[in-house]
Amino acid sequence: MPYAKIIGSGSYLPPRVVSNDELAAELATRQIATSDAWITERTGIRQRHIAEPGAKTSALAIEAGRAALEHAGVAGADVDLIIVATSTPDFIFPSTACIVQAGLGIRGGAAFDVQAVCSGFVYALVTADAFIRAGRARTALVIGAEVFSGILDWNDRGTCVLFGDGAGAVVLKASDEPGITGALLNADGSQMNILCTAGNVSRGKVVGDPFLRMDGQAVFKLAVTVLAQSARDVCAQAGIALSDLDWMIPHQANVRILNLLGRKLGIPEEKIVITLDRHANTSAASVPLAFDVAFRDGRIKAGDQVLMQGVGGGFTWGSVLARI
Ligand code: ACO
Repeated sequence: MPYAKIIGSGSYLPPRVVSNDELAAELATRQIATSDAWITERTGIRQRHIAEPGAKTSALAIEAGRAALEHAGVAGADVDLIIVATSTPDFIFPSTACIVQAGLGIRGGAAFDVQAVCSGFVYALVTADAFIRAGRARTALVIGAEVFSGILDWNDRGTCVLFGDGAGAVVLKASDEPGITGALLNADGSQMNILCTAGNVSRGKVVGDPFLRMDGQAVFKLAVTVLAQSARDVCAQAGIALSDLDWMIPHQANVRILNLLGRKLGIPEEKIVITLDRHANTSAASVPLAFDVAFRDGRIKAGDQVLMQGVGGGFTWGSVLARI
């Protein structure tokens, strides 16, 4: 059975950067109080990229996908699987993956979306790995892309300061050398209410609540617990120790979650890739964005053992171990 190996990555961020100070000044015009000090201290976030109103997730995904294909040296014609992880799809249908396929000038092969909110990229990576290991695909483009600014309630300071827009992608190729060596996905639907956007469109009208709602403290506690257990379990599955990890890339939601996780697992801070200070929480895009930053700046090297972890709405979580 072949392995699925990551052979390239790419990302895209909308050009508009909004600092905490700018966001605080904008919210102040609507009598909503927040500050750079509060956001930085509680979350580690300093700025976020925000897409233009009406921007489509596919547009970000296409840019990230193109960059990943170039980085991998793979022609679009060789891609026989495209998976886009997103909770902010362009349309109810067709899938964002099909729009991305057309935008990249690729034909044939499978293209579909995966919806697991902030765990979406990890879910998509595990799915693509299963396709490649089963011989059902040879070259996969896996993208996490979001325009979360479109589902934020900009009058709710408890959530609107936390998120940003962006896209990240990797190219996976069938290989005889070890690539993805461990994978675990989990969900607990009974916790759906702690993080949700419980709206839909029916008969031409928005039904329910179109904005993201979150019980921040419940999410925080559950995230630390499940990510720690998942990290231990996936390493045990692959027969390696936590100390064998070269890099850890957890979902980028809050630096306090990442620090606590590192302490619980005994993983030193220097091994944890952090981009949330610049990107904020970009949901399904956060892990591939962080991967791309660390891969391109030379921190992640060939042969490294990388643990990627997602956690988010559903409630969902998961881990992928990849030998680069
Ligand atoms: N600016 C200033 N004050 C604020 C803000 C803000 N932006 N937001 C909330 N506050 C206030 C609250 O109103 C509250 O005030 P009060 O004490 O007068 O009632 C006070 O700050 C403390 O609020 P808490 O919610 O208790 O703050 P906490 O320390 O828990 O931090 C946070 C909140 C940052 C949301 C934290 O709980 C967290 O990061 N949780 C995890 C969130 C997360 O990871 N979400 C993403 C999951 S991934 C996905 O699937 C989308």
